[in-house]
Amino acid sequence: LFQQFQHSIQDIKEILKDDLALIDIHLKNIVLNQDGLISQVVENIFSGGGKRIRPILHILTGKLLQSEPTSLDESFYYLAAAIELIHCATLLHDDVIDKSDLRRGKKTANYLFDNKTAILVGDFLFAESFKLMVKTNNNKALNVLATTSSLISQGEVRQLELQQKDFITKDQYYNVIEAKTAILFAASTELSAYVSAENQCHAAILKDFGLNLGLAFQIIDDILDYNSASNLLGKEIGDDFFEQKITLPIILLEKKLDSQERLYLKQLFDKKYQPNNKDLLEITKLLNKYDIFNQSFSYAERHVNSALEILNSFAKNEARDILESICRIIIARKY
Ligand code: IPE
Ligand code: IPE
Ligand code: MG
Ligand code: MG
Ligand code: MG
Repeated sequence: LFQQFQHSIQDIKEILKDDLALIDIHLKNIVLNQDGLISQVVENIFSGGGKRIRPILHILTGKLLQSEPTSLDESFYYLAAAIELIHCATLLHDDVIDKSDLRRGKKTANYLFDNKTAILVGDFLFAESFKLMVKTNNNKALNVLATTSSLISQGEVRQLELQQKDFITKDQYYNVIEAKTAILFAASTELSAYVSAENQCHAAILKDFGLNLGLAFQIIDDILDYNSASNLLGKEIGDDFFEQKITLPIILLEKKLDSQERLYLKQLFDKKYQPNNKDLLEITKLLNKYDIFNQSFSYAERHVNSALEILNSFAKNEARDILESICRIIIARKY
């Protein structure tokens, strides 16, 4: 499975540069008539770039459904921009909730300004995303994105609620990551089926494709939170740990520990305790000792394999090849 994939994210952005430019026009329009704080904060998050993986998935699944390469309906660009805006809005909010200082290699809005500013500008981006999606006049698409927005919030609240618990199960973890992350990936791919009437029959399978990619994406994100470098990732390492957030690596680790180590683990995640850098080092040692990164990785791999299988049921074209590369990138990514 893990032979060298053909395209990097940079290659894909290059191949899709005309499509991404059309999306960028919609994004740039948002700040065109804004000044002061709104434009500063939005500029800050936009100029960090980001991988743009969700809009890319929307455009590519649109192209996957074409029998010959022609230009996509303009609805794709409205929806791709709306999806990226929902994503950016949740990032602004997420960094407040997670008290994160670094995002896309830059200081976050909550760090540079304050929490109030980040939350209000996040709300502004949410509202702007709805302005874009209504331009498609497509009720099915509106329904998907409205439901998606609701589920993302439910996922974040559920996560907050679970943080009061001493420990969580794998099912509870999956519940959260499906809602907070995978559903937006699923929307990005499912929506492509709703843009043209003759493709609606592909909606369920494309949704499943995106859902699997999104689950894998968040599992890898949770591994990288322990096992990357902030200059690569553009985010601080250990944000989850210092917030005592229980993610898949910790759930799998807990099962492997001897009784003394387990006691230590419970202590680190005790709400009355504030973990420090030395604790992060210790926990990373344990994660390596019990081979947890590889074990977590194989969960992500399973979802990517399901996604690849779905992809194989579509006729081969250039978009399918690039989507296959994205499946592999999601697993191999370091940022
Ligand atoms: C970060 O998403 C939030 C998660 C769901 C893990 P990305 O890793 O796609 O963030 P950008 O857009 O590339 O910065
Ligand atoms: C991402 O989860 C959830 C969102 C929907 C924003 P994280 O909190 O792990 O995302 P990062 O690591 O801050 O990007
Ligand atoms: Mg978070
Ligand atoms: Mg976060
Ligand atoms: Mg994370």
